[in-house]
This record gives sequence, structure tokens and C-alpha cells, in this order.
Amino acid sequence: MVAFSLVWGISVKVSAEIQELINKYFPPINHPYRVLYRTILNHLTPSDTVLEIGCGRTALVLRAFKGKAAKLIGIDVVDYDIIDEEVILLGNDVTDMTDIATASIDVAFSRSVLELAHEIEAAFSENRRVLKPNGRHIFLTPNFYDYASLIAAAIPNQSKRPVEATCLWRLTRDNVH
Ligand SMILES: C[S@@+](CC[C@H](N)C(=O)[O-])C[C@H]1O[C@@H](n2cnc3c(N)ncnc32)[C@H](O)[C@@H]1O
Repeated sequence: MVAFSLVWGISVKVSAEIQELINKYFPPINHPYRVLYRTILNHLTPSDTVLEIGCGRTALVLRAFKGKAAKLIGIDVVDYDIIDEEVILLGNDVTDMTDIATASIDVAFSRSVLELAHEIEAAFSENRRVLKPNGRHIFLTPNFYDYASLIAAAIPNQSKRPVEATCLWRLTRDNVH
């Protein structure tokens, strides 16, 4: 392990070969995940309450904002694999965020989630309810030709969990936290 890479503001130890691949395929400036991360950071102040919609089982993206906002809240419809005292993880649907108070969020964000919502108008309406008057919802969605969309379309639903488990094992092996 000789090199470091910056993904979502987290220092990650990776091998030289992996760093070379990251540099080749994900040049530092343009990767959409990094653009999203920088955009969120640009709108954050230390006193803000941040909400990640569809944060996933480990809330990896949300946890990258530790120390940069006063309160971090994640919602998702899945069971969480982690417990972290610095983040609040709730089991809410984006169309019905019952545990989030009206006008309580400064910055809401979501990555690869809104395209999954069956009732998109209800999702945006609920977003508007929880945001403070000057609050923002910053989101990233993949288009049809995104490699993740293409791979996901090619994998039958019943096989997705084993594939995900394999990918997570590889990440752990490479010391990605
Ligand atoms: C592709 S994953 C993205 C996870 C995470 N945002 C990331 O970028 O790593 C989509 C996530 O959206 C969540 N999700 C899907 N529909 C949802 C809904 N109606 N309300 C809340 N979360 C939802 C899924 O459970 C899943 O965790």
C-alpha cells in the first residue's frame, strides 16, 4: 500500500496499481461523484443540518461530511449495517419522511436514488417540506448509459446481493474505509 486517493474527502489507502487505474479512468476534476461532493461542501456551513436521502446500508457518503456540519441525518428503506454515534440513521421512505421535522434541513442531497422513486412528485414535495426556506436539495442521478445502470440492468435482481457482497469484500481487502 503506497499511495493515497481522495474519494469523497476520505483518505483511502490503495496499491500503486489501483491508484494508476483511478488516475486513468477517474481524473480528479471531472468525476461526477467528486463534483457532487464539492458542490455539497460549497453549500455547507458548520452549523448546518444535512440530510442524505437514500444513504444506503453504510451511509458512506454521508459520513464523509463528519466535522463539516452540525448534524448528519440519513434516511433509507433498507436495514443499516452500521451504528455510528455521529450520524442519525432513520428508516424512512423519500416520499414520506415522517421522522424529519418540517423546515429542519439546510442541505439535503441524494446520489443515485431519485431515479428509483416510484412517486417522484411526492418525493420532491416531501423534500420541499423538510427543507428550510433557503435550504437546498442537491442530487445526482445516473443517465441510462451510466456504467452502473448498464451493469445493474444486466444482473438479475436475485444475483445483486452476492455481487454487492463480492465488491464490498474487495474494497475491504484494499483498505478502503
Ligand atoms: C444505488 S443505491 C445508492 C446508495 C447511496 N446513495 C450511494 O450513492 O452510495 C440507492 C439507494 O436508494 C435507496 N432507496 C430506493 N428507493 C428509496 C425510497 N423510496 N426512499 C428512500 N431510499 C430509497 C435504496 O435502498 C438504496 O440504498
